[in-house]
Amino acid sequence: MSKVHVMNHPLILHKLSLMRDCQTGVKEFREATREIAMLMCYEATRDLPLKTIQIETPLAHASARVISGKKLAFVPILRAGLGMVDGMLELIPNAKVGHLGLYRDPETLKPVDYYCKLPVDIAERDVILIDPMVATGGSAAAAIQMLKDKGVKHIKLMCLLSTPTGIETVQKAHDDVDIFVAAIDEGLNEHGYIVPGLGDAGDRIFGTK
Ligand code: PRP
Ligand code: URA
Repeated sequence: MSKVHVMNHPLILHKLSLMRDCQTGVKEFREATREIAMLMCYEATRDLPLKTIQIETPLAHASARVISGKKLAFVPILRAGLGMVDGMLELIPNAKVGHLGLYRDPETLKPVDYYCKLPVDIAERDVILIDPMVATGGSAAAAIQMLKDKGVKHIKLMCLLSTPTGIETVQKAHDDVDIFVAAIDEGLNEHGYIVPGLGDAGDRIFGTK
């Protein structure tokens, strides 16, 4: 079974509370999304392999450790996942970025895919799939399947909020995908929104409502 890493860092929880508050405006919401993504990226990349290289410091010869192994790709699920990309790129500026377009049908709550543009060598990369919200889990599970169909073997899912149902759905469909989540909320309302949640992440990031 995959691992679920629930972030309990005070900085993440503080910024998440700001995002939950309905009084928080677009600018602050966007900034908090970017900042939490950066902090979570730090946690989600703890297991990156290192190799030793030889360097000269101003004082002496030294063995130094640098990141090695497979290259990374970040894949945001459109739209809301876009809000997390810049914070992650601040830590890993050389990562490639792919895009998956999925929206959730408001009646059936099933994901509908409308866009897919991935780095040509995506199958050789480790992927961090990003979306602030994993509600029913349908969009995340479908996105993971799209990546696997393109040959991707190592995927981590990073989200800000989820629910027990959302986590279970993703784990049942993809028990090889570790999940990094800032908080797991109580559940879903009758429209499939996370409660207490933070509302519609895409609308709050882009100011569309
Ligand atoms: C939101 C969110 C996820 C999805 C989660 O996207 O960003 O992609 O819903 O719901 P699920 O876990 O029940 O599938 P939305 O469909 O609102 O599209 P948007 O990002 O373009 O607003
Ligand atoms: N998508 C969102 O943006 N928010 C939710 O609570 C559920 C799905």
